[in-house]
Amino acid sequence: MEKITINHIKAAKNREKIVMLTAYDALFAKLFDPYVDIILVGDSLNMVFAGKSDTLSATMDQMIYHTKAVCAGAKRSFILFDMPYGSYTTEEIALQNAIRVYKETCADALKLEGGAEKAPIVSYLVQNGIAVMGHIGLMPQHVRAEGGYKVKSDKEKLLSDAKALEDAGVFAIIVEGIKADLAKEITKSLSIPVIGIGAGKDVDGQVLVWSDMLGFFTDFKPKFVRRYLEGASLVEEAVRQYAQDVRSGSFPSEEESY
Ligand code: KIV
Repeated sequence: MEKITINHIKAAKNREKIVMLTAYDALFAKLFDPYVDIILVGDSLNMVFAGKSDTLSATMDQMIYHTKAVCAGAKRSFILFDMPYGSYTTEEIALQNAIRVYKETCADALKLEGGAEKAPIVSYLVQNGIAVMGHIGLMPQHVRAEGGYKVKSDKEKLLSDAKALEDAGVFAIIVEGIKADLAKEITKSLSIPVIGIGAGKDVDGQVLVWSDMLGFFTDFKPKFVRRYLEGASLVEEAVRQYAQDVRSGSFPSEEESY
């Protein structure tokens, strides 16, 4: 079992598709670890795990707690820490928080949202030995400022944001919620891997939020999600059966008793 490093991720460009999935705890991280290249401890945990309506209130302490749990479960995958809202507003704040991530967790790299305006912060982190992944297009941390989650189509801006981040030193970029042909153009224009979510197939890899992909989140299904399991109905059925067995006295049986 060879540990996946930043060099494997960079070398995947134009060679093989990168598989990325979120996880927030040791149990699921251990299950995903043999099959994915990157485990993202996304700030989406604020919605999926903590039940909030957006990602904005996730804190550094929460993200570090969950990353430590993922580190306990995953030994092979590249671990990516998602910088929460407000944790990278200036070069110094970003560096202090990034140093915390490296000192307190096993994260291999961190991810932050933003385009050209974040390039100086990216560059400062990279100069200080931090591996950074960019995230452009639909940026969930902008949901309140933009009044919702909007698919992005400003071609010139997205191409120049991607280039500015590459020049600043990111080793890969996530493009979220953009048309497939534009994602393809961004992917072709860069020499670093571009990982898509809701960005079509002509990118260097894909990322999904685990609870979408395994059908545990059922309030709605974004167009770009493919469900590989109907997790919520399987769990509901199992728990319904358990409750029935306890109430009827059929659980535990003699074999299940000491
Ligand atoms: O927080 C997250 O899960 C993410 C993905 C949507 C890319 O940033």
